[in-house]
Amino acid sequence: MVIKYLGSKRRLVPVIGALAGASGARHALDLFTGTTRVAQELKRRGAHVTAVDLARYSEVFARCYVETDARGVDGVALDATLATLDALQGRAGYVTETFCHASRFFQPHNGERIDAIRDAIDQDHHDSPLYPVLLTSLLEAADRVDSTTGVQMAFVKQWSARSHQPLRLRAPDLIAGAGTTLRGDACELAPRLPSVDFAYLDPPYNQHRYDANYHIWETIVAWDRPEHYGVACKRVELRDPTRRSLFNSRPAMPGALRRVLAAVDAGVVVLSYNDESWIPFDELVEMCAGRGHVEVLAFDSKRYVGAQIGIHNPRGERVGTPGRLRNVEYLVVCGERSRVERTVAGADSAVPERVGTRGAEAR
Ligand SMILES: C[S@@+](CC[C@H](N)C(=O)[O-])C[C@H]1O[C@@H](n2cnc3c(N)ncnc32)[C@H](O)[C@@H]1O
Repeated sequence: MVIKYLGSKRRLVPVIGALAGASGARHALDLFTGTTRVAQELKRRGAHVTAVDLARYSEVFARCYVETDARGVDGVALDATLATLDALQGRAGYVTETFCHASRFFQPHNGERIDAIRDAIDQDHHDSPLYPVLLTSLLEAADRVDSTTGVQMAFVKQWSARSHQPLRLRAPDLIAGAGTTLRGDACELAPRLPSVDFAYLDPPYNQHRYDANYHIWETIVAWDRPEHYGVACKRVELRDPTRRSLFNSRPAMPGALRRVLAAVDAGVVVLSYNDESWIPFDELVEMCAGRGHVEVLAFDSKRYVGAQIGIHNPRGERVGTPGRLRNVEYLVVCGERSRVERTVAGADSAVPERVGTRGAEAR
């Protein structure tokens, strides 16, 4: 799946997978699962994964990639169903009106097909175990022919090159094994989740609202023909401030993260962090230190840079600030000291260009 998603951890997936492997994770949690890319990797490595997110579309991806066991799916029947849906004649409906004429996210020839296919999924497959698989196939197909630069807050002035292509359904790459999907607020769910060996946390760290950035996927999943507003024809519910994630509120976000970090029942926690965050790096490390020992891995767009930016020297003394480089992403690993050390050491081969020690006892 190569879906476009803000903050997707595509590049870091092998490292996070290696950390989970080195920690010996048999039960894992992906608490802000988004596209489920990380959850998929953890599942591929044999862990039972619980995937959590607030977004409706993310729940569909998780029911497809995390919860569905590929061994229980008849691939031939799935291909035949997708071929039937793909062959449906387009028929103008909500998507065509709203996202092809009132706004210009899809060309009408594709919008009409999205309308027809989505109606058929609802009518003929609503109670089928394949429902999330078919819907995922449609979301991914729509994503390949949209006319955006990635997020759905705006469309490009001239039709994008890919929007001229006909929408095509493909079978998602399902993974063998069991898993669990939960849709809900991490702050409420975290204290009630089962105990896991390994938890990965990738919350939004700033104002980027995922339900607004991906409102078209929300609408295709909910299929509720909502009233809309603005040039991008967003769902009216997005105006309701009570629906906003605490992670998109500058004053509320640090407290929410602190509570979630304290509540998760996990042997090792790996937290993603980047230099566009509202939380200062030191504060984040201090929060993580509540769970024990902390180690930090830093990556720029090409390689591991932890030692170069010198977050900490081998004695754990602070020797530099991470804010100096742009587009640096961090993985903060925390938990009981021996487990964290074993996890980071064991994952070393997956860390591109390992440079020196970056271990640090949090102050
Ligand atoms: C940075 S993205 C995660 C990206 C993901 N790791 C990936 O690779 O696709 C953050 C995710 O947090 C979700 N989210 C925002 N607020 C949330 C909350 N309060 N509880 C659970 N999930 C939330 C968003 O829907 C979004 O998918």
